[in-house]
Amino acid sequence: MEKEVLLYEGKAKKLFKKPDSNELRVEYLDQATALNGQKKDAIQGKGALNNQITSYLFQLLAKEGIHSHFIKKLSKHEQLIEMVEMIPLEVVVRNVAAGSFSKRLGIEEGTPLPRPIVEFYYKDDALDDPFINDDHMAYLGVATVEEREGMRDLALQVNETLQKIFAQIYIRLIDFKIEIGKTVQGGLLLADEISPDTCRLWDAVTNDHLDKDIYRRDLGDILPVYQEVYNRLEKEFSSCI
Ligand code: TMP
Repeated sequence: MEKEVLLYEGKAKKLFKKPDSNELRVEYLDQATALNGQKKDAIQGKGALNNQITSYLFQLLAKEGIHSHFIKKLSKHEQLIEMVEMIPLEVVVRNVAAGSFSKRLGIEEGTPLPRPIVEFYYKDDALDDPFINDDHMAYLGVATVEEREGMRDLALQVNETLQKIFAQIYIRLIDFKIEIGKTVQGGLLLADEISPDTCRLWDAVTNDHLDKDIYRRDLGDILPVYQEVYNRLEKEFSSCI
């Protein structure tokens, strides 16, 4: 059997590629980082929870017609995905003011937004992933106008569907970040992960954080909170996946 090669090692995942295959094996790591890696801790069990939550969400999105690079879950902390050419952008959708949006514009955290706001960030660790506008994107050549509009539409569709999924488990989707890749045919495909690391999730009754802000803001242990999100998904959706 031909050996796998480590293609990429990020803050939360390792990607392995089999020779002559368009499929990758992803290993979710037991590691939490914040502030562009300045804060970093090993958290046993976090990788498995994020892998399982992402796997659920990608499968539920697929059932609603939104396909992603997800092929199948291989184990608690691994999944098989389709290889795509990643577009070096983070696409953020916001339904409620929070985080950097609240800070930048001086809007109180928790203020509902009249319609979803889409933002693009240029993925570059050395630059701290700066916020960019359409002209910056064109200048940098990271996406064509058509791709940019396609990404915006996809992000809004993901938002609508995820909001419905989370509402069923009494969670408010405050905001989230996705990453998008290009297939060999040139189409856009949802990629990376969707988990409490990449979403702000507030309990619908108490507004308690069920996401990585617990870690970013030193509010306590993230593991029980991530477990709670997983348990709610499992209880509501295990029979339909
Ligand atoms: P922000 O308010 O810090 O800009 O974050 C908006 C959303 O994007 C929030 O749900 C967290 C997510 N996010 C990531 O997943 N990765 C990142 O590097 C950043 C900055 C935000």
